[in-house]
Amino acid sequence: MATAATHQTARTLAHDSQDGTQAGVDDTAAYERAFDAAVAADERVEPRDWMPDAYRATLVRQIAQHAHSEIIGMQPEANWITRAPSLRRKAILMAKVQDEAGHGLYLYSAAETLGTGREELLDKLHTGRQKYSSIFSYPTLTWADVGAIGWLVDGAAITNQVPLCRCSYGPYARAMVRICKEESFHQRQGYELLLALSRGTPAQHAMAQDAVDRWWWPSLMMFGPPDDESAHSAQSMAWKIKRHSNDELRQRFVDICVPQAESLDLTLPDPDLRWNEERGQHDFGPIDWTEFWDVLKGNGPCNEQRITQRRRAHDEGAWVREAASAYAAKHSASGAGRGVEQA
Ligand code: 3HC
Repeated sequence: MATAATHQTARTLAHDSQDGTQAGVDDTAAYERAFDAAVAADERVEPRDWMPDAYRATLVRQIAQHAHSEIIGMQPEANWITRAPSLRRKAILMAKVQDEAGHGLYLYSAAETLGTGREELLDKLHTGRQKYSSIFSYPTLTWADVGAIGWLVDGAAITNQVPLCRCSYGPYARAMVRICKEESFHQRQGYELLLALSRGTPAQHAMAQDAVDRWWWPSLMMFGPPDDESAHSAQSMAWKIKRHSNDELRQRFVDICVPQAESLDLTLPDPDLRWNEERGQHDFGPIDWTEFWDVLKGNGPCNEQRITQRRRAHDEGAWVREAASAYAAKHSASGAGRGVEQA
């Protein structure tokens, strides 16, 4: 394990590189060695530290896709705010959808620390040059879908994202701590909602089962393609951006969900799902990867609707951004915030 001195070297080199001194070939090799040593020692890489261009690009790609998923994910759930069956459910759902917007903000801010601004990332989302999670290209057809999203989609997100709290890049890792805490509440509210439906009338139980039937397989796809088709996993794991492979996390999620489904008295729609004594894990049936890649290409049931709605929201929000900028400019010019009273 590297010592604190190794990290000091990495930081010193990093800050030297920011003094405008052109790094030569030897310098770059030294920076790389120091960066590798810091990552090997489980030390955090911070925005002003030297980092390989490919590391920076990978982080921007992943964080942007993650941020986009948070804000696009607001749509399928917001679809049910006006039709929530009680004031309590409505208040909970509104808070959850607002949380997702907040997660998007933390993540766009984390990407900004890598030198890529929010405007640029949003433009890439709106023009189809960056992805968002496949899961949000599916429709929310009934109220039970709100429960299934909470239980399964937020559950899958937590399984994937808790290890990201130990990501090698500091700002992303720290953003994930708060996001995961909030996602845990989201998962529990989904579970509780489904439990209420499952214990309700036969029609309510059937509605809950139907939602689980539709959301189960897309939730497993959230973890990304199988390891042997995952283009980025090996490098991202070597850099300790990702801590586990897509298949490892998917398996962990299946093992968590099976007993929870039993408690909910709901069935997971997979005839091949069974405990494997030898592996100490559940076996599960084949995932339809053709459907996954098709959704990524933009052919999912709601891809077009999601992007159209996102562009509209962005355009309609232009006046808010302008007003906020004008207010901030006025505020800083007049010295407000430094104890000067506003007229
Ligand atoms: N949806 C859309 N695209 C996906 C995907 C999915 N479920 N899974 C993988 N992909 C894309 C990758 O982005 C990559 O595309 P690119 O090369 O064009 O960028 C390609 O498929 C190959 O996949 P890899 O496995 O090689 O990609 P990664 O190593 O980046 O792993 C990942 C994919 C596991 C999704 C990883 O990026 C990750 O852990 N991201 C952070 C978590 C995240 O993005 N979560 C979004 C979930 S939704 C959410 O959190 C909202 C909450 O409210 C529920």
